[in-house]
Amino acid sequence: MKHRTKYSVIAGLTRNPLKNVNPFLGILFLMLLLSCDKQTSDPLDKKVNDLLSQMTLEEKIGQMNQISGYGYNEDMAGQIKAGAIGSILNEVDAETVNALQKAAVEGSRLGIPILFSRDVIHGFKTIFPVPLGQAASWNPQVVENGGRVAAVEAASVGIRWTFAPMIDISRDQRWGRIVESLGEDPYLTSVLGAAMIKGFQGDSLNDPTSIAACAKHFAGYGAAEGGRDYNASIISTEQLRNTYLPPFKAAVEAGVATFMVSFNEINGIPSSGNEYLVKQILRNDWGYNGLVVSDWNSVGEMVPHGYVKDLSEAAEAAVKATVDMDMENHAFLPYLAQLVKDGKVKEADIDNAVRRILKLKFQLGLFENPYVEIKESVFYAEDHLAKAKEAAIESVILLKNENNVLPLSDKIKSIAVTGPLADAPHDQMGTWVFDGDKTHTITPLAALRAEYGSQLKINYAPGLNFSRDLDKKQFAQAVAAARASDVVLFFAGEESIFSGEAHSRADISLPGAQKELLTELAKTGKPIVLIIMAGRAIEIGKELPLVDTYLFSFHPGTMGGPALTDLIFGKAVPSGKLPVTYPKMVGQTPIYYNHKNTGRPAGDNLPTVENIPLEAGQVSLGCSSYYMDAGKDPLFPFGYGLSYTTFEYSDLKLSATELTKNDRLTVSCVVKNTGKVAGAEVVQLYIRDLVGSITRPVKELKAFDKVTLQPGEAKTVEFTLTTDALKFWNEKDREILEPGDFDLWVGTNSAEGLKSSFVLK
Ligand code: NOJ
Repeated sequence: MKHRTKYSVIAGLTRNPLKNVNPFLGILFLMLLLSCDKQTSDPLDKKVNDLLSQMTLEEKIGQMNQISGYGYNEDMAGQIKAGAIGSILNEVDAETVNALQKAAVEGSRLGIPILFSRDVIHGFKTIFPVPLGQAASWNPQVVENGGRVAAVEAASVGIRWTFAPMIDISRDQRWGRIVESLGEDPYLTSVLGAAMIKGFQGDSLNDPTSIAACAKHFAGYGAAEGGRDYNASIISTEQLRNTYLPPFKAAVEAGVATFMVSFNEINGIPSSGNEYLVKQILRNDWGYNGLVVSDWNSVGEMVPHGYVKDLSEAAEAAVKATVDMDMENHAFLPYLAQLVKDGKVKEADIDNAVRRILKLKFQLGLFENPYVEIKESVFYAEDHLAKAKEAAIESVILLKNENNVLPLSDKIKSIAVTGPLADAPHDQMGTWVFDGDKTHTITPLAALRAEYGSQLKINYAPGLNFSRDLDKKQFAQAVAAARASDVVLFFAGEESIFSGEAHSRADISLPGAQKELLTELAKTGKPIVLIIMAGRAIEIGKELPLVDTYLFSFHPGTMGGPALTDLIFGKAVPSGKLPVTYPKMVGQTPIYYNHKNTGRPAGDNLPTVENIPLEAGQVSLGCSSYYMDAGKDPLFPFGYGLSYTTFEYSDLKLSATELTKNDRLTVSCVVKNTGKVAGAEVVQLYIRDLVGSITRPVKELKAFDKVTLQPGEAKTVEFTLTTDALKFWNEKDREILEPGDFDLWVGTNSAEGLKSSFVLK
């Protein structure tokens, strides 16, 4: 039992930070704050306030209005000139952008430029692996590169704001949007989300190649019940703070320019009108004073949610929650002026929203340089393609490699290339690709032919035309190709439309007749390499024994083909690790490594449906927390991934076994490459807080490092933890640090590792 009274330090802010302040002092403080806001000495704030002071209420509300573009047209230009539009999304032609901008800058009363935006999620033209794939790299530099390349390409047509990164913690493979996330872990998502923000925003927003990033969807969207998109999220205070919010807090700390609220309701209150979430936590507690945009019609959707009765009430709730910009809700423009006149919305709240919008426009340099310079295209530049290939290589996870079928040996003279994803230039790019051109995609078939076509016999027979295809008439050709080859490369998976927004699945196995095709291929007795391109972990438990090797590549993007070819032939070595827990079957979802222990954790040798005696007594099997048909474990744990080499861990050392509140703990460990090729290993540090005033997860990732090692080389990997890493939020919405015992592991995935322990006094 811990001595909780010794110091249950309240490290975070309470719900009302001014609660214990003398009321007179409080009022004085507030007056001071307000006057500071108006008479700020910051030159940028001054510019914003000067401009704001010249604006009519209607012009202010116009700045809060974002609409979707549909080319240049007089109607839109007229609205812009009237000052009724602050931002346009989905306009991607530089000349159109400039023409619309001209209407704003030269045609409107105050000449305030438009902020053009777009969902540039994992690339603009050069498409990187889907975000979940990038997360599998566990390499912040790879993710940052993806953001940078996307920013350079998107900014070249005048887009200065993207709606990414999506940092919703996602634990359910059914949820179509898991593909857009950075996985299930708050720490990994925090680190990689910050890297993506850095990539998009560059060193300064003012740089013409920088685009404002957007932390979305605030918050709890990934907890959609049953993995069904847009569904309600029910999240306890403790889960919200410990699991769902940390990546957003990290995004604020990383300087993210904007936030987007989520579609979902969270514990009964839609995020778009959620004062506790947006105004209290984001703005007051975290001090974030950037732009918050609604999601597409998410303000209006508070009506069908049953939270407000009409659009006017929706607009009122959104502004009160400090949502600054209306994305295609058509709620602010028609109703806000009247709401102000009726005294339901304060003009001061409108002013603050507009300040945030104008400030971002100034920061992006739009007032000085509103037009985009039309230059030579930067699309698909050589170094963009090289970085996309690097990212695809690092995103691929080797999940099985029996008999070391990969990398293919020199003895291989012929390969069968089969499966619906072997040559699917559109689907290989994945979801949320509006601008990438499939004619630039290099598929595995194209890459294999280009690089090995002259040395090897490549027998191509897709077997199925697309992932949902049920027609088996090409099976015979695929099987014949397999028989005629030394090895079979089976490119399976999901079409890109199977994941992403509104694309949830209840069955997460291989769609169409792919399972049957794989079964037929396996009957040939040839070694089979299964390569899955998908937006989620595909249920593969039953098919896995049919294959020797399993490479999980997510949707790898434009350069997926060359990346996979390098991996297949050993020019590159797999180093990806799962950013999610891989279930055996869909019924295990939601499944995640940092779960609670329960009062009846399952042990080993559990009874299963296959071995339970007939008419077994009700409690004769023991009573523990597991599935009779799936066991207690996933197919592959979080953090798992193999290499063509092996790594040995030794010499785990802790700088102390007893810590006090302000101490730092240094943890070191030696990692050695014990195989024959160079490879990179993601070294992972987990802790477990054994006893807490609220129960703690069985493991929590606290640090990681990706190290490259030559054959035989050993490196000491060192991590430093402060006691901040040991804090957690309790059910009273307080962040606390509790003394007690901790276990610690350093290892190759969340289920294996060298173990030690320490005590926090
Ligand atoms: C809806 C999606 O939820 C959001 O992620 C996206 O940025 C907007 N639409 C704009 O397309």
